[in-house]
Amino acid sequence: APKEYEYLKVSNPKPGVGLITLNRPKALNALFTPLFHELNAALKNLDATPSVGAIVLTGSPKAFAAGADIKEMKDLTFSTAYGTDFIELWTATLTTIKKPIIAAVNGYALGGGCELAMMADIMYTSAGATLGQPEIKLGTIPGAGGSQRLTKAIGKSKAMEIILTGENFSGKHAAEWGLAAKCFETPEECLEGALGTAEKIAGYSRIAVKAAKEVVNKSQDLGVREGVEFERRVFHGLFGSKDQKIAGMGAFAAKQKPEWSHE
Ligand code: HXC
Repeated sequence: APKEYEYLKVSNPKPGVGLITLNRPKALNALFTPLFHELNAALKNLDATPSVGAIVLTGSPKAFAAGADIKEMKDLTFSTAYGTDFIELWTATLTTIKKPIIAAVNGYALGGGCELAMMADIMYTSAGATLGQPEIKLGTIPGAGGSQRLTKAIGKSKAMEIILTGENFSGKHAAEWGLAAKCFETPEECLEGALGTAEKIAGYSRIAVKAAKEVVNKSQDLGVREGVEFERRVFHGLFGSKDQKIAGMGAFAAKQKPEWSHE
């Protein structure tokens, strides 16, 4: 039975696709710990659901997420933040999900909202989306990976400029700089585009998709030589899968359509 959540909606709008919609409209989807408890549970659930092959994460047309909840943070002390590893919970689950996650970013994606979008495997935007790391204006810095992921994605000079000035940038710019894979005209097209891509990915072998995500992610942590060696080992491993042998290469050679067994 579908689980009920207070701050999100989970649905299955297309075959093989799990959609998580952040739903805290009164605060423009401001992120706080109760929301992350739900998001983490929903992600784990979808990751463990065999019929789901890819996940889309979105907000509303007005806000993907307007940042960490400033009202929740304003009275937090150093010892509580450090003692409870504040924010670690926000990244710990999402970044260990094995199925591809596509963020469909519309409206505001600021601070922690931008960081959440950057944790996804693929980011799509709409042209009018507003992204940014405005923490400097609050006397703080990005705390959910923004300084690292933004810099990896768009280079040091541009990331430094964005983080030090706190100036926002558009969904159009995000795609021009390679932070987003695609930019759409409208929020509706952005979500449809994300769902379409997720459906396409969900139509392939789960084994191969999992391996592909794993090897691309390794490139973020390893040097090229080690990364290529890792890729080759995983590539070799796929010679042991039925999907590669029978549904993939066997069907190609026999001029048939692939029927993935996900084995
Ligand atoms: C708490 C927030 C919020 C936030 C919006 N709201 N963003 N509450 N934390 N980050 C609340 C508002 O207080 C308001 O509540 C309601 O949502 C609607 O917002 P408005 O400001 O009235 O809407 P609008 O005038 O359209 O302006 C939208 C906005 C503005 C430009 C996005 O809300 C804004 O500047 N928000 C803060 C953005 C920000 O600084 N984000 C980074 C946070 S720091 P009421 O009750 O008044 O109706 C951060 C640190 C990350 O993310 C590091 C660790 C993860």
